[in-house]
Amino acid sequence: MQLKHYLQFKDLSADEYGYLFTRAAFIKHKFKAVEKHQPFADPDRTLAMIFEKASTRTRVSFEAGMYQLGGSVVHLTTGDSQLGRAEPIEDSAKVISRMVDLVMIRTFEQSKIERFAAHSRVPVINGLTNEFHPCQILADLFTLVEYRPAASGQPLDAIRGKVVAWVGDGNNMANTWLQAAELLGFTVHVSTPGGYEVDPALAGISDRACFKVFKDPREACAGADLVTTDVWTSMGYEAENEVRREAFARWCVDEDMMRAARPDALFMHCLPAHRGEEVSAEVIDGPQSVVWDEAENRMHVQKALMEYLLLGRL
Ligand code: CP
Repeated sequence: MQLKHYLQFKDLSADEYGYLFTRAAFIKHKFKAVEKHQPFADPDRTLAMIFEKASTRTRVSFEAGMYQLGGSVVHLTTGDSQLGRAEPIEDSAKVISRMVDLVMIRTFEQSKIERFAAHSRVPVINGLTNEFHPCQILADLFTLVEYRPAASGQPLDAIRGKVVAWVGDGNNMANTWLQAAELLGFTVHVSTPGGYEVDPALAGISDRACFKVFKDPREACAGADLVTTDVWTSMGYEAENEVRREAFARWCVDEDMMRAARPDALFMHCLPAHRGEEVSAEVIDGPQSVVWDEAENRMHVQKALMEYLLLGRL
């Protein structure tokens, strides 16, 4: 297998996403049927998970997923390893990747995971950086395909031409949505408060036609197939909490915004959520919300991703 990393959404092609969505559906079906699917059992494969920020979903989904595939997991944090004691990231990459088969990293700057990957012998997966969260958008799109499948049965047909409304911070999630839109042919309606706009250069897109900017979040939701948001203050930006609370006050996805979207529009949130801030309780706990399936799907798509990076198409 040629060494392949998953550091940004655009690291895979549309064709590879088509395969992954189909494979994730197969893997999820096996899980629900309580049937073993253990391509990593013999020989045993190991995933190292490195967390420099807190996590619930990413840790549980990767760890449970790896065990279900027949492999095993090593969990490292900055506090309990030499990573927090200034060992160069390049040295850590050279050592860790001699002992495991895959590495998942949650860290701060994207440059850090890129430096690790440049010195890794094994595939590296982005479990969230300040700039991108590709595994989350992989799960979100899989969830969209599950809920709104195309008549053709082709996952990519279920995504192409759709409108996704992004309400809130121009953060790592927004950047990743833009990359996905450019690659898979849908449009993102972006509404952020002034000063928190998306930056196409930072998002790593070249085609500005894949997104439209709206000052009014309700207008961004008009006609959307999917409305989605994230916390007002992402991890690492806590010092800005009070300023952000004021700036984002109008960027709460509520029932009025959902009414502006298509009648069959879905609501997604990567979680954790703050009810009464970026989303009302009525919306996140309401009939259009699919956040629990979205969260569960992290595990199924990441199992498909890990299998693909290590073993290719099966
Ligand atoms: N959505 C997400 O990445 O959740 P965690 O921060 O709990 O991993």
